[in-house]
Amino acid sequence: MDVFETAYRRATTYRSRAASLKVRPERSYLEMRETFAAPLPETGTPDHMVIEELADLGEPGLMQATHPRFFGWVIGGSAPVAVAADWLVSAWGQNAAMQESSPAAAAVEETAAGWLLEILDLPRTSAVGFVSGATVGSFTCLAAARGALLQRYGWDVEALGLYGAPEVQVFVGDDIHTSVLSALRYLGFGAQRLIRVETDQQGRMLADDLDRKCAAVTGAKLIIAQAGQINTGAFDPYLAIADIARRNDAWLHVDGAFGLWARADTELRHLTRGVEMADSWAVDGHKWLQVPFDSGYAIVRNAQTLQNAMTISASYLPVQQPGARVPALLVPELSRRARGVPTWAMLKSRGRSGIIRMIRQHCEIARQIAHDMDATPGIEVMNDVVLNQIILRFGHDHHGPDLRKAYAVAVIDRLVREGLIFVAGGAWRGEWIMRISVICDNTTLMDANTATNAIRSAWTQVSAMQASIGSEAR
Ligand SMILES: Cc1ncc(COP(=O)(O)O)c(C=O)c1O
Repeated sequence: MDVFETAYRRATTYRSRAASLKVRPERSYLEMRETFAAPLPETGTPDHMVIEELADLGEPGLMQATHPRFFGWVIGGSAPVAVAADWLVSAWGQNAAMQESSPAAAAVEETAAGWLLEILDLPRTSAVGFVSGATVGSFTCLAAARGALLQRYGWDVEALGLYGAPEVQVFVGDDIHTSVLSALRYLGFGAQRLIRVETDQQGRMLADDLDRKCAAVTGAKLIIAQAGQINTGAFDPYLAIADIARRNDAWLHVDGAFGLWARADTELRHLTRGVEMADSWAVDGHKWLQVPFDSGYAIVRNAQTLQNAMTISASYLPVQQPGARVPALLVPELSRRARGVPTWAMLKSRGRSGIIRMIRQHCEIARQIAHDMDATPGIEVMNDVVLNQIILRFGHDHHGPDLRKAYAVAVIDRLVREGLIFVAGGAWRGEWIMRISVICDNTTLMDANTATNAIRSAWTQVSAMQASIGSEAR
């Protein structure tokens, strides 16, 4: 089994070096295309040599997403214990579709599902489907929502599809994550038929507007809230939203890809008050739980609605026992890897207290970065830092949005080239901003200091350059 040893050696060497590398890929995508471009081999290569070559070729094009100073997008750190468990998943070669195809995988998932409901403090009898991420998590939950809502109007969407079905009115906040819009499109709700609900400066849905818009239409209603806005980390007002959902007999879904993890921590849980009243929740494992890709959870209060949406049967598949947890009835796929295993390993390794410690530390680091950045002339923290997300604007009011965008782009570009930290940009309220997401497992306050010093220094250089261009022009 030389090949496993080769993979083990290359993986451990890479991970032990990762923190000393520049926090960006050494080579670009175009360079990597050239690296990998090759005709289909006519003859084979010994396994261990394939792995050696793969690592040699691939490593220069790796994003250092496990680096403690990786603050890009919203990406977890693939913790070693969860990666090791994932290796076992692949080596075991289990198909996690059924209890019969892998008793171990089915049982691990069942325990992990229970642990997730406990740590996220969601209704304990909810069904948990182990999916590939929050996008598919929302898709899966919303398929259950679609069936359940239409059933209330006497329509069996699983049998009849959407041809001639009663309309479902879908309400989303203006600052909903784009993946939810994709999930809605996949389910036949379209991207333009949604009813958009106004949001405040932090991206939180305005409950009054939702209430008004719900009252203005009749029929089946689906409300989608979120926990952790992608830029600000903000939380919707769930108590008010849940009350509106109840009064309108609506299904309430929550996209909590990373933000729902705030529920794990008693100090942060107040941010999510009322979220437990929803009907379904999409959450990621590969973000704040630090499980490697692909890991997400589709959690549905009424298990039967999820099973109705995900039903799959054939003579060659084992007969389902009533009341039994059949993994394939909780997710869109039949054959799949045993995704519950790394989740089980992560929760086992850290325990509730370890997860809380990590989340609390990330939020403390985010507050520290925000504090330091706000004290820097010309840099403005644009959000209330309630969680792990920070968004920065560069430049003053008199500069105008175009010049401020040029500043932000130049600062980000400089930082990425320098490679001490990794950050990326995005648009928020008419501004181009720098997004900082503190979510990598082993980020410390020292990393936060390095980050703030690097950002300050890049900003000083960019603004000085602009000042000299300005004076030359005069
Ligand atoms: C709020 C939110 N929802 C959904 C998603 C999509 O998650 P995934 O990429 O795991 O499908 C993300 C990803 O960043 C997110 O931040």
